[in-house]
Amino acid sequence: MAIPRLHLFEFEDLKWLPNRFRRYITDLLAHQMKVLGIYDATVSKLEEVLTETGHDTLVDLCSGSGGPAPSVRAKVAASLGKDVRLILTDKYPNVEAFNSIKEPHIIPLTQSVDATKVLLELKGVRTMFTAFHHFQPEQAKHILQDAVNAQMPIGIFEITERKPISLMTLIIAPITCLIFSLMVRPRRLGRFFWTYLVPVIPFLYTWDGLISNFRTYTKQEWLEMTSQLSGKNFRWEVGELTSKFHIKVTYLIGYPEVLKKREQHEVV
Ligand SMILES: C[S@@+](CC[C@H](N)C(=O)[O-])C[C@H]1O[C@@H](n2cnc3c(N)ncnc32)[C@H](O)[C@@H]1O
Repeated sequence: MAIPRLHLFEFEDLKWLPNRFRRYITDLLAHQMKVLGIYDATVSKLEEVLTETGHDTLVDLCSGSGGPAPSVRAKVAASLGKDVRLILTDKYPNVEAFNSIKEPHIIPLTQSVDATKVLLELKGVRTMFTAFHHFQPEQAKHILQDAVNAQMPIGIFEITERKPISLMTLIIAPITCLIFSLMVRPRRLGRFFWTYLVPVIPFLYTWDGLISNFRTYTKQEWLEMTSQLSGKNFRWEVGELTSKFHIKVTYLIGYPEVLKKREQHEVV
């Protein structure tokens, strides 16, 4: 049973939050996702969408400091046995973090890209990891409608949930923050100070994690959203994947039906 959705504030969304704190949090998230391979379970789904739609590019929205997208891309490319490009984007690009990603096939865009109005020239399968819950229902629908309008496939992935068990796991969040902060590179005096001497970061991290759970849409709500979109030639699928450490990843995937039809036509 899902708890009612509450769209309370997350520090990360507050305009007055100094950028370096936003960066400390997104760096920590990116590091954690990479080390724990939390989104590895999405690899097979993305592979499926790339194959079905014939795209060879992932356009990651709301990338933060990169998040799990680079390691997911590498695994998808290895599994498909072909080059897969990844374009990292954000409305408030973390230029320093983006510039530090120097991998072939990864293109970090330092210009602002709003997930509700993605530039038409950015063609490929849109992805969004741990970010859809940041948007109020109307804005969230705009993100999906924008993909439909552009006829671009989209995959939304979340690890938070409006379930009591997910809220309970937040008890260990401050400890997780203290442990993983030791591993984040580059090492920063500010991170050390605001984590271990004045524990502002563990507080922001735990609060935002808690609120993220309260804000996350259920699979049913995702389906209701998609039923309200205009332009019906999109095929939508919701489901659950299990990642390492039994972490559940819920997903919403949509792609243009015409591509599927064309493929069926070719098969016939
Ligand atoms: C939770 S964070 C980053 C999540 C990242 N994908 C990860 O897994 O580490 C959410 C990101 O969404 C970005 N964001 C907020 N509103 C946005 C919008 N309208 N369009 C694009 N990005 C947005 C923020 O700048 C922030 O970097």
